[in-house]
Amino acid sequence: MALQWYPGHMNKAKNQVQDRLKLVDIVLEIVDARLPFSSRNPVLEQIIDQKKHIIILNKSDLADPKVTRDWRINFQQEGTNSIELDAKHSKGLGQIKSLIRSELSEKIERYENNGVQNYRIKAMCIGIPNVGKSTILNRLVGKNVAVTGNKPGVTKNQNWLKTNIGIDLLDTPGILWPKIDDPKVGMKLALSGAIKDKIYAPDDVAIYALNFLETHYMDQLQEAYGLTNADIFNHTTPELLMNLTKKFGYKEDYDRASRRIIDDVRKLKLGRLTFDVPGEFYEE
Ligand code: G4P
Repeated sequence: MALQWYPGHMNKAKNQVQDRLKLVDIVLEIVDARLPFSSRNPVLEQIIDQKKHIIILNKSDLADPKVTRDWRINFQQEGTNSIELDAKHSKGLGQIKSLIRSELSEKIERYENNGVQNYRIKAMCIGIPNVGKSTILNRLVGKNVAVTGNKPGVTKNQNWLKTNIGIDLLDTPGILWPKIDDPKVGMKLALSGAIKDKIYAPDDVAIYALNFLETHYMDQLQEAYGLTNADIFNHTTPELLMNLTKKFGYKEDYDRASRRIIDDVRKLKLGRLTFDVPGEFYEE
């Protein structure tokens, strides 16, 4: 089943972002470090291009560190600076302030040369649901200011928030849904937990995951489930899912095995993984 995505919703969010762009000096685009491509919103990308902006690769504690570095190089080559963040464990927050100050150095220098004191930098956080915007806001403001939840659809505060890094933050306007043109993007969002589990059948997501793991993380896959080469080679991915179901002792309950595989991926049983591969999206 495809994710319901309404152009009307997207246009509303796009207009709200566009209106608020005038109010801020810089945009902080939050993405999931496991999905630096799939968790970006291409519609927003176009409009925030008009503004200074940085990319925050949040949940970097869950992502493959080597691939995160590759993505940062990739973004830099495209002209956008980025940082790695683990907002959940408050790691990397200091870098937000330094990167913002370096991006806005000319403006800050003008303020300082003109003797303007107590100036406040104004920023806006944007990102699709579940990338960690509320968590980041809470860390920067130092108290619970927005609802943190895993379920997209919770209305968030849209106030100016004074942060402990000398920056005023405007929260995301409305809900900025991901734009899923490519079914692979949908699978990756489902696998990471960014979209509701009931949107895709668990066996589709598990087969997508197993196939991706076979291609990119074979060692982790074999180690996590004690698989030999004979278990993997000369078998299709659906056959691998069937074999794993048996191995787990779930008889023919493929959905149960699929949910377990998805859960194992999310809970790092297979180690830190990144599902978007730099370069992949530019070759297609
Ligand atoms: P949103 O506002 O963008 O929708 O996202 P939100 O902050 O609500 O975060 C969504 C989930 O992601 C939360 O998990 C949150 O704890 C988790 N999260 C946010 N930042 C990070 C991070 O850097 N690393 C990791 N590992 N997780 C992060 P939850 O299960 O809904 O809540 P909780 O049980 O963790 O509190």
